[in-house]
Amino acid sequence: MDAIAAVVLAAGKGTRMKSDRAKVLHQACGRPLAYFPIRAAFALDCAPVVAVVGHQADLVEKELSQLFPGAPLEFALQKDQLGTGHAVASAQAALKRSGFSDRGSVLLLCGDTPLVTAETLQRLVRVKREARAPLAFITTRPADPKGYGRIVRNEKGSPERIVEEKDASAAEKRIGEVNAGIYLVDAPFLFKALGQANRNNAQGEYYLTDIVSAAAAAAREGRAPWSATIEASEEEVSGVNDRAQLAWSAARLRERRLSALMRDGVTIVDPAVTYVDEGVEIGTDTVLEPLVSLRGKTRLGRGVEVGQGCVLVDMEVADGARILPYSHLTASQVGKGAIVGPFARLRPGAQLGEGSHVGNFVEIKKTVLGKGSKANHLSYLGDAVIGEGVNVGAGTITCNYDGKKKHVTTIEDGAFIGSDTQLIAPVTVHKGAYVGTGTTVREDVPPGSLAVSAGKQRNIEGWVEKKGKK
Ligand code: UD1
Ligand code: CA
Repeated sequence: MDAIAAVVLAAGKGTRMKSDRAKVLHQACGRPLAYFPIRAAFALDCAPVVAVVGHQADLVEKELSQLFPGAPLEFALQKDQLGTGHAVASAQAALKRSGFSDRGSVLLLCGDTPLVTAETLQRLVRVKREARAPLAFITTRPADPKGYGRIVRNEKGSPERIVEEKDASAAEKRIGEVNAGIYLVDAPFLFKALGQANRNNAQGEYYLTDIVSAAAAAAREGRAPWSATIEASEEEVSGVNDRAQLAWSAARLRERRLSALMRDGVTIVDPAVTYVDEGVEIGTDTVLEPLVSLRGKTRLGRGVEVGQGCVLVDMEVADGARILPYSHLTASQVGKGAIVGPFARLRPGAQLGEGSHVGNFVEIKKTVLGKGSKANHLSYLGDAVIGEGVNVGAGTITCNYDGKKKHVTTIEDGAFIGSDTQLIAPVTVHKGAYVGTGTTVREDVPPGSLAVSAGKQRNIEGWVEKKGKK
């Protein structure tokens, strides 16, 4: 098979989004919209894939190129958005530069159509090949065709042209079959047809759809067969033009993603209210309770439990760990069989060892908590190195910040920190040492010793009566 290149149109502003951000950068499943058609093109082995950018070009290029490291993704600038035909023409130089042969064919996709699947594109490739046509494209029959280009066919049923809503007569507007905006075209035919296009239409734009009438003209002259079409479901080719459509498409993408995870052995208690970004990895027999949100580069091992209402961003969670409800965890690691939450917070750089416990209202930042160590209630542990088998009592605070710099607290293996302790860093509690309840630890505690700082308790008898407090 000859090489197929792809061009993804992503230069438009997306006026109907009413946003400062280019439409193709709005997110679904944690990825910008244009990510999805580009991924579909790569799934089809297209090379290169050229994204046509214009509105916020630098930002669009930056965000998309990060998502496809090492892939043959190129960018072409369409400075002024003069229409979809002009956008494709803008990609020609980039195609040449990347060594694409003029004899190949080009797959044309829209950056705002995220639901198209590689299977449907595969079908388009087959039909074009079988028809030996210079052009094949996808049509659909939506419940409401308003806004789409209508497919005008001749008496034999061959496509004659596509007429845009704004150019259509009353009779043409009644046509139910519409253009999905996805085409596979022989490169020489494509660029010749675009070269002959004009802007004589209601919007004064170069219409990509004019390549369909160009193919019909060639067919009438006997130079090529008519263009071929395939029909796809409305869902697959529906575009995102406003935020309601964005939410709808994002929900479809999410359904697909969660179905795939469930097929792979992940239990999702209620897929309607579970959110898993693209790129998140989850092992078998892991259970996601309702209202869980897994974002960024999160990776969960096997048999992990994620309780209701947890939000995990860029997290690494090892096999058998349990994250109890309403915990918020970011850029940290949870070891095998560890228990976190409910209501726990891990900020970047927390490393919880195997079998460790972090309980309710505990905040941990940039801290190693060794194997089997516990901090079960109401604590702040920041910039600390905590060994194995340590017990951190309720209300323990590492005072890591002196107003200018952060300092490290070290707690060695087997130490016991009594409740309501403040550890004023830099400070070390050595192996097996004890810190009494309510201690302010300003100096290192030697191995095997007990540190206490609170004074002796005094009881003032009869105080209540004397003060008349009754
Ligand atoms: C287009 C089709 C219409 C089809 C519909 C399917 C044309 C003339 N019309 O209409 O037949 O039914 O898609 O969704 O092609 N873009 C650029 N540069 C431009 C103009 C657009 O990159 O100068 C990009 C947009 O960012 C968008 C895509 O092309 O991703 C489609 O443009 P849009 O204006 O949404 O076209 P429609 O009016 O929806
Ligand atoms: Ca559109």
